[in-house]
Amino acid sequence: MAHAIVYRSNGGPEVLEFVEIPDATPGEGQVVVAVRAAGVNPIDGKLRSGMRPAPTDGSARRIGSDAAGVVTAVGAGVDSVAVGDEVIVVSAAGAYATEVVAKAGPKLLPKPAELDWTRAAALGIPTGTAYQSVTSLGVTAGDTLLLHGGAGAVGQAAIQFAVRAGARVIATASERNHERLAALGATPVAYGAGLADRVRALAPDGVTVALDAAGSDEAIAVSLELVADRDRIGTIVRGGEAAGWGIRAWSGGSPIPLTDEEQALRLAGIVLASELAAEGGFDIEIAGTYPLGEAADAHRESDAGHVRGKLVLLP
Ligand SMILES: NC(=O)c1ccc[n+]([C@@H]2O[C@H](COP(=O)([O-])OP(=O)(O)OC[C@H]3O[C@@H](n4cnc5c(N)ncnc54)[C@H](OP(=O)(O)O)[C@@H]3O)[C@@H](O)[C@H]2O)c1
Repeated sequence: MAHAIVYRSNGGPEVLEFVEIPDATPGEGQVVVAVRAAGVNPIDGKLRSGMRPAPTDGSARRIGSDAAGVVTAVGAGVDSVAVGDEVIVVSAAGAYATEVVAKAGPKLLPKPAELDWTRAAALGIPTGTAYQSVTSLGVTAGDTLLLHGGAGAVGQAAIQFAVRAGARVIATASERNHERLAALGATPVAYGAGLADRVRALAPDGVTVALDAAGSDEAIAVSLELVADRDRIGTIVRGGEAAGWGIRAWSGGSPIPLTDEEQALRLAGIVLASELAAEGGFDIEIAGTYPLGEAADAHRESDAGHVRGKLVLLP
Protein backbone atom coordinates (compact mmCIF):
# COMPACT_ATOMS: atom_id res chain seq x y z
CA MET A 1 0.00 0.00 0.00
CA ALA A 2 1.24 3.48 -0.83
CA HIS A 3 1.53 6.11 1.90
CA ALA A 4 1.66 9.88 2.00
CA ILE A 5 1.80 12.75 4.43
CA VAL A 6 -1.31 14.93 4.32
CA TYR A 7 -2.91 17.69 6.37
CA ARG A 8 -6.56 18.61 6.66
CA SER A 9 -6.29 21.90 8.55
CA ASN A 10 -3.61 24.53 8.98
CA GLY A 11 -1.59 24.36 12.17
CA GLY A 12 1.61 23.15 13.81
CA PRO A 13 3.59 20.09 12.71
CA GLU A 14 1.07 17.89 14.55
CA VAL A 15 -1.50 18.42 11.75
CA LEU A 16 0.65 16.26 9.47
CA GLU A 17 -0.79 12.75 9.14
CA PHE A 18 0.80 9.62 7.70
CA VAL A 19 -1.98 7.93 5.71
CA GLU A 20 -2.55 5.18 3.19
CA ILE A 21 -3.27 6.34 -0.34
CA PRO A 22 -4.58 4.45 -3.35
CA ASP A 23 -1.90 3.15 -5.72
CA ALA A 24 -1.28 5.78 -8.39
CA THR A 25 -1.95 5.27 -12.08
CA PRO A 26 -0.41 7.63 -14.63
CA GLY A 27 -2.67 9.63 -16.92
CA GLU A 28 -1.69 10.69 -20.41
CA GLY A 29 1.71 12.39 -20.38
CA GLN A 30 2.30 11.37 -16.77
CA VAL A 31 4.54 8.95 -14.92
CA VAL A 32 4.45 7.37 -11.48
CA VAL A 33 7.62 7.72 -9.44
CA ALA A 34 8.45 5.56 -6.43
CA VAL A 35 9.89 8.18 -4.11
CA ARG A 36 13.26 7.31 -2.56
CA ALA A 37 13.79 10.70 -0.90
CA ALA A 38 11.85 13.96 -0.51
CA GLY A 39 13.30 17.36 0.36
CA VAL A 40 11.83 19.34 3.27
CA ASN A 41 11.61 23.04 2.41
CA PRO A 42 10.55 25.91 4.67
CA ILE A 43 7.68 26.65 2.24
CA ASP A 44 6.17 23.28 3.20
CA GLY A 45 5.89 24.47 6.81
CA LYS A 46 4.59 27.86 5.72
CA LEU A 47 1.83 26.22 3.64
CA ARG A 48 1.04 23.78 6.46
CA SER A 49 0.76 26.55 9.04
CA GLY A 50 -1.25 28.83 6.77
CA MET A 51 1.44 31.51 6.78
CA ARG A 52 1.37 31.25 2.99
CA PRO A 53 -2.13 30.89 1.58
CA ALA A 54 -3.14 27.26 1.12
CA PRO A 55 -6.65 27.27 2.58
CA THR A 56 -7.80 23.88 3.79
CA ASP A 57 -11.37 22.62 3.48
CA GLY A 58 -11.11 19.54 5.64
CA SER A 59 -10.07 17.27 2.79
CA ALA A 60 -6.60 15.72 2.78
CA ARG A 61 -3.97 17.91 1.13
CA ARG A 62 -0.65 16.46 0.00
CA ILE A 63 2.60 18.28 0.74
CA GLY A 64 6.16 18.55 -0.58
CA SER A 65 7.67 19.72 -3.88
CA ASP A 66 11.07 18.04 -4.18
CA ALA A 67 11.49 14.32 -4.76
CA ALA A 68 13.87 11.81 -6.28
CA GLY A 69 12.94 8.28 -7.18
CA VAL A 70 12.42 5.56 -9.75
CA VAL A 71 9.83 5.60 -12.54
CA THR A 72 7.45 2.66 -11.99
CA ALA A 73 4.79 3.35 -14.63
CA VAL A 74 4.40 5.60 -17.66
CA GLY A 75 1.17 6.86 -19.18
CA ALA A 76 0.14 7.15 -22.80
CA GLY A 77 2.27 9.42 -24.95
CA VAL A 78 5.33 9.31 -22.70
CA ASP A 79 8.54 8.50 -24.52
CA SER A 80 11.07 10.73 -22.72
CA VAL A 81 11.38 8.38 -19.72
CA ALA A 82 10.89 4.67 -19.14
CA VAL A 83 10.13 2.37 -16.23
CA GLY A 84 13.27 1.98 -14.15
CA ASP A 85 14.67 5.44 -14.89
CA GLU A 86 16.06 7.30 -11.88
CA VAL A 87 14.69 10.82 -11.81
CA ILE A 88 14.52 14.08 -9.90
CA VAL A 89 10.98 15.47 -9.68
CA VAL A 90 10.78 19.27 -9.63
CA SER A 91 7.53 20.90 -8.41
CA ALA A 92 6.17 17.50 -7.37
CA ALA A 93 2.52 17.35 -6.36
CA GLY A 94 2.97 15.87 -2.90
CA ALA A 95 6.56 14.68 -2.65
CA TYR A 96 6.12 13.49 0.96
CA ALA A 97 4.91 10.08 -0.14
CA THR A 98 6.00 6.64 -1.20
CA GLU A 99 4.89 7.47 -4.74
CA VAL A 100 4.02 10.54 -6.71
CA VAL A 101 2.44 11.20 -10.10
CA ALA A 102 4.49 13.62 -12.20
CA LYS A 103 4.26 15.11 -15.64
CA ALA A 104 6.83 13.86 -18.12
CA GLY A 105 8.67 16.94 -19.35
CA PRO A 106 11.31 19.45 -18.33
CA LYS A 107 10.50 19.17 -14.63
CA LEU A 108 11.38 15.48 -14.61
CA LEU A 109 15.17 15.41 -14.69
CA PRO A 110 17.46 12.43 -15.01
CA LYS A 111 19.18 11.73 -11.69
CA PRO A 112 22.93 11.54 -12.22
CA ALA A 113 24.19 8.13 -11.08
CA GLU A 114 26.85 9.83 -8.94
CA LEU A 115 24.22 11.59 -6.82
CA ASP A 116 22.68 9.65 -3.95
CA TRP A 117 18.93 9.85 -3.33
CA THR A 118 19.10 12.33 -0.45
CA ARG A 119 21.22 14.82 -2.39
CA ALA A 120 19.12 14.42 -5.51
CA ALA A 121 15.97 15.22 -3.51
CA ALA A 122 17.68 18.17 -1.82
CA LEU A 123 18.41 20.07 -5.03
CA GLY A 124 15.11 21.40 -6.36
CA ILE A 125 13.77 24.47 -4.60
CA PRO A 126 17.05 25.58 -2.96
CA THR A 127 19.35 25.42 -5.98
CA GLY A 128 16.74 26.73 -8.41
CA THR A 129 15.92 29.69 -6.18
CA ALA A 130 19.57 30.45 -5.45
CA TYR A 131 20.62 30.34 -9.09
CA GLN A 132 17.68 32.43 -10.28
CA SER A 133 18.06 35.12 -7.64
CA VAL A 134 21.86 35.37 -8.01
CA THR A 135 21.45 35.55 -11.80
CA SER A 136 18.53 38.00 -11.70
CA LEU A 137 20.62 40.30 -9.49
CA GLY A 138 23.34 40.19 -12.15
CA VAL A 139 25.99 38.97 -9.71
CA THR A 140 29.30 38.88 -11.53
CA ALA A 141 33.06 39.26 -11.14
CA GLY A 142 33.84 42.52 -9.40
CA ASP A 143 30.73 42.33 -7.22
CA THR A 144 30.73 42.02 -3.47
CA LEU A 145 27.54 40.20 -2.53
CA LEU A 146 26.11 40.45 0.98
CA LEU A 147 24.10 37.25 1.49
CA HIS A 148 21.80 36.98 4.49
CA GLY A 149 21.16 33.40 5.61
CA GLY A 150 24.29 31.80 4.19
CA ALA A 151 24.03 28.53 6.14
CA GLY A 152 20.60 27.44 4.90
CA ALA A 153 19.96 25.32 1.84
CA VAL A 154 19.34 28.33 -0.41
CA GLY A 155 22.22 30.26 1.16
CA GLN A 156 24.78 27.51 0.64
CA ALA A 157 23.70 27.16 -3.00
CA ALA A 158 23.75 30.94 -3.52
CA ILE A 159 27.31 31.15 -2.16
CA GLN A 160 28.46 28.50 -4.62
CA PHE A 161 26.74 30.08 -7.64
CA ALA A 162 27.97 33.58 -6.77
CA VAL A 163 31.54 32.37 -6.22
CA ARG A 164 31.36 30.57 -9.58
CA ALA A 165 30.25 33.87 -11.14
CA GLY A 166 33.45 35.40 -9.78
CA ALA A 167 31.93 37.53 -7.01
CA ARG A 168 33.18 38.00 -3.49
CA VAL A 169 30.53 36.76 -1.04
CA ILE A 170 30.08 37.96 2.52
CA ALA A 171 27.52 35.67 4.12
CA THR A 172 25.76 35.90 7.46
CA ALA A 173 25.40 32.96 9.82
CA SER A 174 25.78 32.16 13.48
CA GLU A 175 29.35 31.54 14.62
CA ARG A 176 29.11 27.74 14.62
CA ASN A 177 28.50 27.78 10.85
CA HIS A 178 31.35 30.10 9.87
CA GLU A 179 33.78 27.34 9.02
CA ARG A 180 31.26 25.79 6.65
CA LEU A 181 30.63 29.08 4.86
CA ALA A 182 34.36 29.70 4.50
CA ALA A 183 34.79 26.20 3.02
CA LEU A 184 32.25 27.13 0.35
CA GLY A 185 34.27 30.23 -0.51
CA ALA A 186 32.40 32.93 1.42
CA THR A 187 33.64 35.36 4.03
CA PRO A 188 31.43 34.58 7.04
CA VAL A 189 30.05 37.27 9.32
CA ALA A 190 27.86 36.97 12.41
CA TYR A 191 24.40 38.47 12.15
CA GLY A 192 22.96 40.52 15.03
CA ALA A 193 23.64 43.99 16.45
CA GLY A 194 26.51 45.76 14.68
CA LEU A 195 26.19 43.77 11.44
CA ALA A 196 26.49 46.80 9.16
CA ASP A 197 29.76 47.86 10.80
CA ARG A 198 31.20 44.36 10.64
CA VAL A 199 30.37 44.16 6.94
CA ARG A 200 31.91 47.61 6.33
CA ALA A 201 35.10 46.42 8.01
CA LEU A 202 35.18 43.33 5.79
CA ALA A 203 34.37 45.30 2.62
CA PRO A 204 35.96 48.75 2.90
CA ASP A 205 35.27 49.34 -0.81
CA GLY A 206 31.59 48.68 -0.29
CA VAL A 207 28.95 46.08 -1.01
CA THR A 208 27.47 46.18 -4.51
CA VAL A 209 24.61 43.69 -4.24
CA ALA A 210 22.57 41.99 -1.49
CA LEU A 211 20.36 38.93 -1.29
CA ASP A 212 18.10 38.24 1.66
CA ALA A 213 17.49 34.56 2.32
CA ALA A 214 16.94 35.14 6.04
CA GLY A 215 13.91 37.41 6.14
CA SER A 216 14.91 39.32 9.27
CA ASP A 217 14.30 43.05 9.71
CA GLU A 218 18.05 43.35 10.16
CA ALA A 219 18.77 41.71 6.79
CA ILE A 220 16.56 44.23 5.04
CA ALA A 221 17.79 47.26 7.02
CA VAL A 222 21.48 46.45 6.55
CA SER A 223 20.99 45.77 2.84
CA LEU A 224 19.27 49.14 2.41
CA GLU A 225 22.03 50.84 4.40
CA LEU A 226 24.95 49.31 2.48
CA VAL A 227 23.74 48.91 -1.11
CA ALA A 228 22.97 52.15 -2.89
CA ASP A 229 21.16 50.68 -5.92
CA ARG A 230 17.88 49.17 -4.75
CA ASP A 231 17.58 47.20 -7.98
CA ARG A 232 20.53 45.22 -6.67
CA ILE A 233 18.83 44.23 -3.44
CA GLY A 234 16.60 41.17 -3.56
CA THR A 235 14.61 39.12 -1.07
CA ILE A 236 13.15 35.63 -1.32
CA VAL A 237 11.41 35.87 2.06
CA ARG A 238 9.85 39.32 2.49
CA GLY A 239 8.23 39.50 -0.92
CA GLY A 240 5.03 41.06 0.40
CA GLU A 241 6.88 44.17 1.61
CA ALA A 242 9.56 44.45 -1.06
CA ALA A 243 7.78 47.00 -3.26
CA GLY A 244 7.50 49.38 -0.29
CA TRP A 245 11.28 49.29 0.14
CA GLY A 246 11.85 49.57 -3.61
CA ILE A 247 13.76 46.29 -3.71
CA ARG A 248 13.31 43.17 -5.81
CA ALA A 249 11.57 39.99 -4.73
CA TRP A 250 10.96 36.56 -6.13
CA SER A 251 8.02 34.67 -4.61
CA GLY A 252 8.32 34.63 -0.82
CA GLY A 253 4.94 36.36 -0.50
CA SER A 254 5.44 38.69 -3.46
CA PRO A 255 2.18 39.48 -5.26
CA ILE A 256 4.11 39.49 -8.56
CA PRO A 257 4.48 36.01 -10.04
CA LEU A 258 7.84 34.85 -11.37
CA THR A 259 8.32 35.68 -15.03
CA ASP A 260 8.77 32.92 -17.60
CA GLU A 261 12.44 33.87 -17.72
CA GLU A 262 12.80 33.60 -13.93
CA GLN A 263 11.06 30.23 -13.95
CA ALA A 264 13.39 29.05 -16.71
CA LEU A 265 16.37 30.21 -14.63
CA ARG A 266 15.11 28.17 -11.68
CA LEU A 267 14.99 25.02 -13.76
CA ALA A 268 18.37 25.80 -15.32
CA GLY A 269 19.84 26.21 -11.84
CA ILE A 270 18.65 22.77 -10.76
CA VAL A 271 20.05 21.16 -13.90
CA LEU A 272 23.35 22.97 -13.44
CA ALA A 273 23.59 22.05 -9.75
CA SER A 274 22.84 18.40 -10.46
CA GLU A 275 25.51 18.26 -13.17
CA LEU A 276 28.08 20.08 -11.06
CA ALA A 277 27.28 17.96 -8.00
CA ALA A 278 27.69 14.79 -10.06
CA GLU A 279 31.22 15.82 -10.97
CA GLY A 280 32.05 16.99 -7.46
CA GLY A 281 31.88 20.71 -8.23
CA PHE A 282 28.86 21.57 -6.08
CA ASP A 283 28.32 20.62 -2.48
CA ILE A 284 24.94 19.72 -1.01
CA GLU A 285 24.99 19.46 2.76
CA ILE A 286 22.45 17.09 4.29
CA ALA A 287 21.55 18.27 7.78
CA GLY A 288 19.62 15.12 8.59
CA THR A 289 17.13 12.56 7.39
CA TYR A 290 13.82 11.38 8.86
CA PRO A 291 11.62 8.42 7.98
CA LEU A 292 8.60 9.61 5.97
CA GLY A 293 6.25 8.84 8.87
CA GLU A 294 8.19 11.28 11.07
CA ALA A 295 7.61 14.28 8.80
CA ALA A 296 6.16 16.20 11.75
CA ASP A 297 9.50 15.96 13.57
CA ALA A 298 11.30 17.13 10.43
CA HIS A 299 8.95 20.13 10.35
CA ARG A 300 9.64 20.88 14.02
CA GLU A 301 13.34 21.05 13.21
CA SER A 302 12.79 23.09 10.03
CA ASP A 303 10.35 25.51 11.70
CA ALA A 304 12.96 26.27 14.39
CA GLY A 305 14.90 28.04 11.64
CA HIS A 306 18.47 26.86 12.17
CA VAL A 307 18.86 23.87 9.88
CA ARG A 308 22.31 23.95 8.28
CA GLY A 309 21.89 22.44 4.83
CA LYS A 310 18.95 20.24 4.05
CA LEU A 311 16.48 17.96 5.78
CA VAL A 312 15.29 14.99 3.74
CA LEU A 313 12.49 12.46 4.28
CA LEU A 314 13.09 8.82 3.40
CA PRO A 315 9.98 6.78 2.55
N1 LIG B 1 10.98 32.96 -2.63
C1 LIG B 1 11.25 31.72 -2.92
O1 LIG B 1 10.96 31.21 -4.01
C2 LIG B 1 11.94 30.88 -1.88
C3 LIG B 1 12.51 29.66 -2.24
C4 LIG B 1 13.20 28.95 -1.28
C5 LIG B 1 13.26 29.42 0.03
N2 LIG B 1 12.64 30.58 0.34
C6 LIG B 1 12.69 31.09 1.72
O2 LIG B 1 14.03 31.45 1.98
C7 LIG B 1 14.35 31.18 3.34
C8 LIG B 1 15.57 30.28 3.39
O3 LIG B 1 15.25 29.03 2.81
P1 LIG B 1 16.17 27.77 3.09
O4 LIG B 1 15.60 26.61 2.40
O5 LIG B 1 17.59 28.15 2.88
O6 LIG B 1 15.91 27.63 4.65
P2 LIG B 1 16.73 26.83 5.73
O7 LIG B 1 17.64 25.90 5.05
O8 LIG B 1 15.76 26.27 6.70
O9 LIG B 1 17.55 28.02 6.41
C9 LIG B 1 17.89 27.95 7.73
C10 LIG B 1 19.12 28.82 7.93
O10 LIG B 1 18.73 30.15 8.20
C11 LIG B 1 19.76 30.74 8.99
N3 LIG B 1 19.24 31.85 9.76
C12 LIG B 1 18.24 31.81 10.68
N4 LIG B 1 18.03 33.05 11.18
C13 LIG B 1 18.91 33.88 10.56
C14 LIG B 1 19.18 35.27 10.62
N5 LIG B 1 18.47 36.08 11.44
N6 LIG B 1 20.14 35.78 9.83
C15 LIG B 1 20.84 34.99 9.00
N7 LIG B 1 20.64 33.67 8.88
C16 LIG B 1 19.68 33.12 9.65
C17 LIG B 1 20.22 29.63 9.87
O11 LIG B 1 21.61 29.80 10.11
P3 LIG B 1 22.13 29.94 11.63
O12 LIG B 1 21.78 28.63 12.29
O13 LIG B 1 23.56 30.20 11.46
O14 LIG B 1 21.34 31.06 12.25
C18 LIG B 1 19.94 28.35 9.06
O15 LIG B 1 21.12 27.76 8.57
C19 LIG B 1 13.09 30.58 3.95
O16 LIG B 1 12.35 31.59 4.58
C20 LIG B 1 12.33 30.06 2.75
O17 LIG B 1 10.94 29.96 2.96
C21 LIG B 1 11.98 31.32 -0.58
